[in-house]
Amino acid sequence: MSRTIKLAVLISGNGSNLQSIIDAIDSGQLDAEIKTVISNNRSAHGLVRATRHGLPTWVLEHRDFEDRDRFDDALQHYLAAIEPDYIVLAGFMRILGPRFIEAFADKILNIHPSLLPAYKGLNTHQRALDNNEREHGVSIHLVTAKLDDGPVILQAGYPIKPGDKAADLQRRGHRLEHQMYPQLLRWLSDQSLVIKAGQIFYKQALLENPIQFKP
Ligand code: GAR
Repeated sequence: MSRTIKLAVLISGNGSNLQSIIDAIDSGQLDAEIKTVISNNRSAHGLVRATRHGLPTWVLEHRDFEDRDRFDDALQHYLAAIEPDYIVLAGFMRILGPRFIEAFADKILNIHPSLLPAYKGLNTHQRALDNNEREHGVSIHLVTAKLDDGPVILQAGYPIKPGDKAADLQRRGHRLEHQMYPQLLRWLSDQSLVIKAGQIFYKQALLENPIQFKP
């Protein structure tokens, strides 16, 4: 049974993942409504994409806030009024505090460019190359209070080829990312994926390991 899920999408930069979600909605492949696009960076290109598609945007520059808690409080206040079903972190490069995460437990998703739990944090492509890895990947996980640490829901790996640079991995990862978020949101919308009390259920069974994405 499908339901229209209400999304708040948080970005900091280019917004190509946002674009993939917009495109999936526009083409009728995803039953969702983007209620707001929020950026902590005024010059994020993703804001241009959102405006072009007539989506409401809101800029919340962290520099304007005294500290992390006040930024989180303002964001929480704004989102509470919108009542999104899911808060989709799509290249949102800012750590959210535990109080915020608790307020929206089971609702915050993040996409991360690595095969979590490997390579949490930044510069994942270069770090994988520096370690002579043969595979890298993408993960979508539920956000919990620890950085890049919540249960991984959907994951895709890709091979690292000789001579690859960080930009090559990024390009390869992005191609997967742009299919993965729409897919995962589709499952949430048709309720084949359910998130409850920090646990993930896929087709009514508790998910013990990440679902492997098949392009
Ligand atoms: C994506 O590759 C995403 O995985 C990454 O930022 C990029 C944003 O691209 N996220 C993180 O590194 C989060 N730790 P986009 O702005 O084009 O969607």
